Amino acid sequence: MTSAYDLAAQEEKGTPFVILAAILAAVGGLLFGYDTGVISGALIFIRQRFALTVLHEELVVSVALVGAACASLAGGRLADYLGRRATLLATSIIFVAGALLCALAASVTALIAGRLVVGVGIGLACSAVPVYISEISPAPARGWMVSLIQLAITLGILGSYIVDYAFSGSGSWRLMLGLAVVPGLLLGLGMIFMPETPRWLTERGREEEARRVLKKIRGDANIEAEIRDIEQTLRLAKERGRWADLLEPSVRPALVIGLGIAIFQQVTGINAVIYYAPTIIQAAGIPSASGAILATAGIGLVNVVMTVLAMWLMDRVGRRPLLLFGTGGMIVTLGGLGLFFHLPGRAGASAGVAVFLLMAYVASFAVSLGPIFWLLISEIYPLKIRGLAGGTAAGVNWAFNFLVSLTFLSLIQAIGPGDAFWLYGVLAVASWIFSYRLVPETKGRTLEQIEAAWHDRLRSAA
Ligand code: BGC
Repeated sequence: MTSAYDLAAQEEKGTPFVILAAILAAVGGLLFGYDTGVISGALIFIRQRFALTVLHEELVVSVALVGAACASLAGGRLADYLGRRATLLATSIIFVAGALLCALAASVTALIAGRLVVGVGIGLACSAVPVYISEISPAPARGWMVSLIQLAITLGILGSYIVDYAFSGSGSWRLMLGLAVVPGLLLGLGMIFMPETPRWLTERGREEEARRVLKKIRGDANIEAEIRDIEQTLRLAKERGRWADLLEPSVRPALVIGLGIAIFQQVTGINAVIYYAPTIIQAAGIPSASGAILATAGIGLVNVVMTVLAMWLMDRVGRRPLLLFGTGGMIVTLGGLGLFFHLPGRAGASAGVAVFLLMAYVASFAVSLGPIFWLLISEIYPLKIRGLAGGTAAGVNWAFNFLVSLTFLSLIQAIGPGDAFWLYGVLAVASWIFSYRLVPETKGRTLEQIEAAWHDRLRSAA
C-alpha cells in the first residue's frame, strides 16, 4: 500500500529535539548494561561481607534476571495502558529505589530484594524504551535512533567493567551497585521534560496533543499526513489490544519473528561471552587474571565501536543485509572458537587467536542480532499491541538470557568449551536460515506502512 505520508518531507536525521528525546530514553539501556556487568565484580566483595552460601550467590545474580523477565512482560501492557513516557518515569523511580536498596543493604535478604527491584526497573525499561524511540523517530532515521538503546547497553557494560576495576582495590561494592542511581536519575529527570509519543496520544483520542508533539519533533515537516496515517491505522485496528490479539492471523507472522529473534539473540551465546569472558580467556591459555581482565575490556570496547558502525549502516544498507552478514560472521567465529578448543597443545602465543576470535564474534553480534532485535520488536508490531508484543519479546529474551548464563558453566563442564561453541554455532546457522526466510526489510518505511504490509500479505494469501 502506498501511503500519503511523504518520506521526503521528513527531516532525514530528525530534529535536535527528537534526537535529544531518543538519547534520554536510551539511557534506559544504560541501566540494563551497567547492571549486567557490574554484579560480577561486586560479587567477590559481597561474598566476603555476608559470607554468602552458593544459593544466596545465585539468587543475588539471577533474581534481577527473573525480575526483568517478568517486568518486561508486564511493562509492555503498562506502556500501552499508562503511555510510553509514564512507564519510563515509573521505571526510573523503581530503578533508583532498587539501586539504593542494594547499596544500603544491611542483610542478604535486603540485597536480594534490592536486586529484584532493580531487575523490575530494567525489564520495564526494555519494553518501553524501544517503543518510545521508534514512535517518535522519523522513518528514515528510525534504525539508528532505536539502536541508541543497544549503544547504551554496550556503554553500560563497558562502564561497569571500568567501575569494577576502579573500585576493586578498595572493595567498595556498595558504591559499585549504588552508582547505578546516576543513570536511573538521568532517565527520570530527562523524561519529565520529554513528550509522550504522538502515536499513543492519537490512540487515546488526544489528537490536539499529538499534533503539538509532532510539531515539536518534526520541525517543518508535513505533520497532517502523519496524523492521517496514524488515524487510518487505528481505524483498521478498531479496539485496543489484548493478549488474545497476539494470535490474530495478521499479527502472527510478526509475533513469530519477534519471538524467534528474541530467542536466537540469546541461544547463540552472546552472554556466555559477555559474562564469562575472563574464564574463557583463561581456559584459552592466558593464565594471569590481569591479562584476562584487559582482554575482556577490549571485548567491551569492540562491542561499543561496532555498535556505532551498525548504527551508521542501519538506515543505509538496511536491516536484512546487516543481520545476515553479522550472523554469518557469528557462525564462522563460533566454528573457529570450537576448533581452537579442540586443538591439542594450544598455549601461550596461540591464546591470542582465541581472543581475536572472541572479539570478531562480539563484533559480528554487534552489527546484527544485538541492535536489530531491539529495533525489530519496536517496528514490526501493529500499534494497538505494540507495547504488549514488544514486551513479550523482551521478556522471552530475558528468560533465554537467564537460561544461557545459568547453564554455560555446566555446559563446558559436561561437553567442553569446544563443543559448547559448536552448539552455539549450530544455533547461529538456524538463526541465519530463520532470518533469511522470515525477517522483512523495514528500512525507510513508516510504522504505518509496515503495519499495512502485514494486512496486504494476509489479503493476498487469502
Ligand atoms: C542483549 C544482551 C547482551 C548485550 C551485549 C543485548 O542486545 O540483549 O543480552 O548482553 O546485547 O551487547
